[in-house]
Amino acid sequence: MEKQTLLYEGKAKRIYSTEDRNTVWVEYKDSATAFNGEKKATIDGKGRLNNEITSLMFALLQQNNITTHFISKQSPTEQIVQHVEIIPLEVVVRNVVAGTLAKRTGLPEGHVLRKPIVEFYYKNDDLGDPLFNTDHIAALELAVPQQLEEMKELALQVNTVLVQFFAEKKVRLIDFKLEFGTNGKGELLVADEISPDTCRLWDSETNEKLDKDVFRRDLGSLTDAYEKILERLGGNLHV
Ligand code: C5P
Repeated sequence: MEKQTLLYEGKAKRIYSTEDRNTVWVEYKDSATAFNGEKKATIDGKGRLNNEITSLMFALLQQNNITTHFISKQSPTEQIVQHVEIIPLEVVVRNVVAGTLAKRTGLPEGHVLRKPIVEFYYKNDDLGDPLFNTDHIAALELAVPQQLEEMKELALQVNTVLVQFFAEKKVRLIDFKLEFGTNGKGELLVADEISPDTCRLWDSETNEKLDKDVFRRDLGSLTDAYEKILERLGGNLHV
């Protein structure tokens, strides 16, 4: 497999074409951004940590019969994945109140929800990724109702698998964001990444934050936190 032309560069990843049009090459960057790109930094080793962790997460989902775009880890910072058309929605699942849910509802951070909440946000940097309901999604024709139902169901399945897996590693899954895409066959797949950039992860005993909130809120070393997660997942700490 060969890395060919750059198709897209986002805040955290670059996507390249390959000689197979059904497959793309993903490179994880060492950049960290928060608050819709307002806060930025380069953090050595972050790309590798997110690539390792995402590869483990997607492999775990596939073992649990949840289809994802992931094909293989290609190098410490790169993956080969299926070429998908990304649905411009961010699907957030929450088990515990934190972040914008605390702001929106006034509920305290750490409040355990009776059942998981699933939310949709419109992926649009210019608008600041607003929260959308199903009518907004239909009005903008971002997804059809059946697709939306499927995304919600898959997101809850992912939550069940990840909550249990992290609990075994003494980590609480507070919330996370998923993206979905459709491949050439029209199949709906979990895409993008699942890493401490896209999940809130707290130590089960101390509630220490082991995710991007460390960067967002200047709570210490981001790589130390991500390394703790990778270590607990049994991943490759050193290359
Ligand atoms: O900021 P908020 O509380 O809405 O985030 C909910 C979850 O979604 C967090 O785990 C956060 O890291 C993730 N998220 C993300 N990308 C975004 C917005 C939120 O990964 N653009």
